[in-house]
Parts: sequence; structure tokens; C-alpha cells
Amino acid sequence: MSEKKPIRKAVFPVAGLGTRFLPATKAIPKELLPIVDRPLIQYAVDEAREAGIEQMIFVTGRGKTAIVEHFDVAYELESTMSERGKSLDVLEATRATPGDIITVRQQVPLGLGHAIWCARAIVGDEPFAIMLPDELMVGTPGCMKQMVDAYNEVGGNLISVLEVPREEVSSYGVIDPGAVSGALTEVLGLVEKPPVDQAPSNKIISGRYILQPDVMRTLENQGKGAGGEIQLTDAMARMIGHQPFHAVTFNGRRFDCGSKAGFVEATLALALEREDMGEEVRRIAERLLKR
Ligand code: UTP
Repeated sequence: MSEKKPIRKAVFPVAGLGTRFLPATKAIPKELLPIVDRPLIQYAVDEAREAGIEQMIFVTGRGKTAIVEHFDVAYELESTMSERGKSLDVLEATRATPGDIITVRQQVPLGLGHAIWCARAIVGDEPFAIMLPDELMVGTPGCMKQMVDAYNEVGGNLISVLEVPREEVSSYGVIDPGAVSGALTEVLGLVEKPPVDQAPSNKIISGRYILQPDVMRTLENQGKGAGGEIQLTDAMARMIGHQPFHAVTFNGRRFDCGSKAGFVEATLALALEREDMGEEVRRIAERLLKR
């Protein structure tokens, strides 16, 4: 059965303009902004690897090549560090296995759905993961591992969701929930940014998906949606009813690093948890809060 084919590929749409972070993102991709000392894209790739995913497909655009450089071997840096007796461990996770990072270009940022569609030839005819690197998911196991485990149970299509206070739902995509079984909720429909009183639930879509390859055909025939962009949510909504669709409630924390406040929150939260600097950062934060 095609729905239980293993998840071997993940698509990372990284071609967005990152306008909320200008001027920082004028020359540096948003996905390379660091939370403490690791760029956002590194957290996402590590999360995919933990879930057993082997092939990382980056949908890039103009000015985004530094993302690929990040996973290259930096000979000069490594030999200089070795000569100086410095450990190279810190670079370990940035060394990709040859051939496991593939890039495709999205020439014009026409929306998330369009970015995913740009990867269709590489995805081929197998189910695949989508990871939005600006949503930092922190959990044990990681979010994608939790989703792959759920996929191995139910197959089909899965999206990761989080429960938020009701008054916040109108900033997000929201699911219309059906039967609930543990962390799994059947998805009956998807609504993008509903008014609070019309929201079918408080379960919002977060940036992790496992989708069947049929979504590519759905995207192919789809016009522009909200904001004049080709929306992934619209394509997924059209698949509901034709294919199994579940939401996985993520057991962990999500930081919206595409927004400035979320980025600062993630930086502070992760810094406070670090053994090498947590106490120092706590003292600094307490001092600043007393002012
Ligand atoms: P966002 O909505 O966060 O857009 O995209 P953005 O351009 O990155 O940031 P702002 O809103 O201008 O500050 C969500 C994800 O979809 C990707 C982005 O790179 C991000 O990972 N994306 C979005 C594309 O790859 N292509 C697009 O056309 C749009």
C-alpha cells in the first residue's frame, strides 16, 4: 500500500523574502539567523534526521545560497581550527552526507504552496515531509519523529497542530476536528485565519506536515488564494475526504521565529536551558527585568 511507504524526503521551503526581519534579512536568509549559536535551518535539519529522513530538499531563491554553504565542508576553517588544537565537534552536524542535500529554485516567491510544488520532480511518487524552519519545534522526541511515529500507525496525510487560547486562533490555519484518539485527531476541514467566533477549534496548524505526493497534482491546478499566494492549506483542504487526514498534537513547545517577539522568546528560552550559559543568562534577565 502506497500510504505506508517510508518517509525518506523532507522539503524545506526557504525561498520566502523574510520581510518581517528586514534589514537583517536583506543579505542573510532568515533561515540562517541563529537561536543562540545554531541557525534555524540547522534545528530543522537535525529534527528531520532524528525522524529517519535522509534526503533534504531545499526550495531556495535568490540570495539564499548561504543556506547550502552551511551544510558544506569548510576546509580552510577546519584545517585552521585543527592547527590551533580546537575541537571540530561543533561543526559535526553541519556536514551533510554527500548527495543528501538537494536544492531546487523557486524563481518568484508565489507562496508556500508554490514553493512545495517546485520540489515535485525530486519528491516523485512517495509521501514526504514538509518542515518550515522558522517554526522552531522543541520536544523529546522531536516533532517530526512524533509525526513519523503517528504516520506509521495511520498512514495518509498528517499535519502537526498545537492548542492555543481561543482568542489567538484568527492569526493561524485552524482544523475542523473529528474523532480524537490520543494525540491523533481526524481532520474534517481546514480554515485559514478564521474570526474567533467562527473557528471550528483552537487547534492551529504548525509548520510540520507529512503529505502524500498527490498534493503536487492538487497544487498544479490551483489558483491563488489568500494574499494572492498559492496556499498549501487550500491544497490540503481539497484532499480531505479523498484521503485519510489526521492532525498530531505536538507534545512539546513551538516558537514562531518568523516573528520578532517569537524569535526573542526562543533565544531566551533556549539560552536559559543551556548548561554552558543558562545561569549567566538568568542573572542577566533578572537584572534587566528589575529595571
Ligand atoms: P512566511 O509566511 O513566513 O514568509 O513563509 P516569509 O517570506 O518567509 O517571511 P515574511 O512574512 O516576509 O517575514 C513561511 C515559509 O514558507 C517559505 C518561507 O521561506 C518560510 O519558510 N516560503 C514562503 C517560500 O519558500 N516561498 C514563498 O513564496 C513563500
